[in-house]
Amino acid sequence: MFGRVKSLDAILATAEKKSLHRSLGAFQLTMLGIGAVIGTGIFVLTAEAAQKAGPGMMISFIIAGFVCAVAALCYAEMAAMVPVSGSAYTYSYAVMGELIAWMVGWALILEYAVAAGAVSVGWSGYVVGLIENALSIDIPDMLVRGPYDGGMINLPAMLIAGLVTWLLVIGTRESASVNAVLVAIKVSALTLFIILAVPVMKMENFEPFSPLGFGGIGAAAASIFFAYVGFDAVSTAAEETKNPQRNMPIGLIGSLGICTIFYLLVAAGVIGSVGAQPVMDAAGAGLEPGSRELAAQCAAIADQSVVCSKEALAWTLREIGWPQIGNLIGLAAGLALPSVILMMMFGQTRIFFVMSRDGLLPESFSKIHPRYNTPYFITIITGIGVALFAAFFPVGLLANISNSGTLFAFAAVSIAVLVIRRTDPSRHRPFRTPAIMLTAPLSIAGCLYLFYKLDVKSQILFAIWAVVGLVVYYAYSRSRSHVGLGRVEVHEGDPGIPPQPVPPLPGDTDIND
Ligand code: ALA
Repeated sequence: MFGRVKSLDAILATAEKKSLHRSLGAFQLTMLGIGAVIGTGIFVLTAEAAQKAGPGMMISFIIAGFVCAVAALCYAEMAAMVPVSGSAYTYSYAVMGELIAWMVGWALILEYAVAAGAVSVGWSGYVVGLIENALSIDIPDMLVRGPYDGGMINLPAMLIAGLVTWLLVIGTRESASVNAVLVAIKVSALTLFIILAVPVMKMENFEPFSPLGFGGIGAAAASIFFAYVGFDAVSTAAEETKNPQRNMPIGLIGSLGICTIFYLLVAAGVIGSVGAQPVMDAAGAGLEPGSRELAAQCAAIADQSVVCSKEALAWTLREIGWPQIGNLIGLAAGLALPSVILMMMFGQTRIFFVMSRDGLLPESFSKIHPRYNTPYFITIITGIGVALFAAFFPVGLLANISNSGTLFAFAAVSIAVLVIRRTDPSRHRPFRTPAIMLTAPLSIAGCLYLFYKLDVKSQILFAIWAVVGLVVYYAYSRSRSHVGLGRVEVHEGDPGIPPQPVPPLPGDTDIND
């Protein structure tokens, strides 16, 4: 079962041949991390976290940030040692064999594609709020919310998913300078929010601190975990990093640390200024975010609670007397969130591409557009999937489903890093996870805990997805696997660069090198 391992030496030999210029320092890595991380999580899911935990969501942010930090340290060792694309999928292939790698790749589909759907829904909430408030145009809920959320279809979310797909098909990538501008926009928006909301905090708004107990705090942590996802973008740049032993942990922990501080201040601002108590049903139980019951209850109180808002930060500012700045925050989210969708969808197409090149998915998935030189076929398939998720599902459910896949992948990487310390202790490690016997088990336990705290719907969907994955593996992929067929070619594109055209494989010659 664990026999089909892709040789690490073969992977590394290609990576060395194609070694990239080591140009990234700690600062650029940190910017990369912040660019990928700040998005729908803080801008939108703050409302969901409040519905689950009330003011106790402050603790939820710390728990989720901590799990991400320990997982990030494990990721960094693997990423520095196997600095090639495919992320957790490739690491698992080299260490734990094809079946686990397949399951991780399969779970990464949830992480990336479903997350892109979640961010699209988040984007829609802000843009619709901006249009309604700044231009006084009332858009019917039916057209801008999914069926679970008091509407029928979320057209703006579909639109942005389609637009990003088109950008990816024509080969758009985000340059470091565009990333820097977008990071500046996001950080300025959050800073402005903090400056306006924190001074008007009222301590009584923090009472009761945890209306739904520690269970609620854990459930909110499992959702808000989404706000930290994306830092793996930093670890995949390992090969381009100067002095990775020093700069990689600074980049990872630095970006997570900065995001955590911002998140805590923003959460404090929301709670302290407008209050963040959950909306309860008649029996005094918290209603599930993204449910029809909550949508109905919110309609009954005319959306007069932050937990009802689809644009929590803009709503808060409007409530405390800053409507124009609220619109400005909406504009910032409208401009910056598409880049998070782009990164997620790019990551998805890349995982599909590598899996297809390994023979585990149909070869047509790696078809390259003759003019744009992009894997257009799989990009369009991914785009259709993302648009459908975005059209019909609420942001919180999508984020939770995405989290389930991410937690699985993080746990797998944390196990892989432990295994390979045993099986291959002398291999050169540009970065070593500090106190690995503590860090890796903490990461695994943290991922399990957060998975356990996800809502049952997401857990069941994850289980169904995993079973479908196993069926596809045994019915299709296993017999076509290049490793299984003895074709151990390794084509490796440079991390972060769109996959290059790869003609069909003539036997076991790697014509790409
Ligand atoms: N962390 C990213 C976000 O919150 C996925 O949008």
